Amino acid sequence: MITTISYNQEEIIKNIIQLYCPQGIELDPTYSKGVFYKNIEKPFHRFDLHPQIEGVREADCRELPLGGESVSSIMFDPPFVGASQKDGKPGVIKTRFGYYKNIPILWDMYIDALKEFHRILKENGILIFKCQDTIESSKQYFSEFKIIKEALALGFYPKDKFILLAKSRLMSPNMKVQQHARKFHSYFLVFIKKDCKVAY
Ligand SMILES: C[S@@+](CC[C@H](N)C(=O)[O-])C[C@H]1O[C@@H](n2cnc3c(N)ncnc32)[C@H](O)[C@@H]1O
Repeated sequence: MITTISYNQEEIIKNIIQLYCPQGIELDPTYSKGVFYKNIEKPFHRFDLHPQIEGVREADCRELPLGGESVSSIMFDPPFVGASQKDGKPGVIKTRFGYYKNIPILWDMYIDALKEFHRILKENGILIFKCQDTIESSKQYFSEFKIIKEALALGFYPKDKFILLAKSRLMSPNMKVQQHARKFHSYFLVFIKKDCKVAY
């Protein structure tokens, strides 16, 4: 039985494919090195703002070189926000995966990318959106809510949600007084380009 929660990213992606896009994933506009596809068929279209491996074409997810209503399924895994190290450099993970400086910049990118995905997706096409909630300047930013709200307004139907639990439980040594629960999970949101069947 397929359930929402897993510690295994590959299991989640395979479950999403089984439930919602048995033909596989056609486009990944934030491909990076394609870790998602070690044991999963690679998407036909592979793009990244900064391609790192052969076979990945350079493109911004907000302006893809694809025609309108031409794609059946999209996997979107953009970078999260993150502060730089003390020396001002971004650090190994952020250098490899990229990062956005703050939430407003990240959310603006989400909105523009959602508009572009709505343009290129066929009717009933699937969008898989990986995200996580973030605390910035002592405020809780529920990116999940923001993405669902914007996607609904554009004409996406929020169909499902999968929760990836983190095995590693690193805590920041700088945190003195805890103000919010520490989040050890991220989401894979699944949208269909069709009228929403629920009145939110
Ligand atoms: C978290 S990584 C993706 C990892 C990938 N899912 C994998 O399996 O290896 C995010 C990627 O998005 C790319 N990226 C950041 N902003 C982008 C943009 N505006 N358009 C396209 N790619 C972007 C980064 O260069 C980075 O390679």
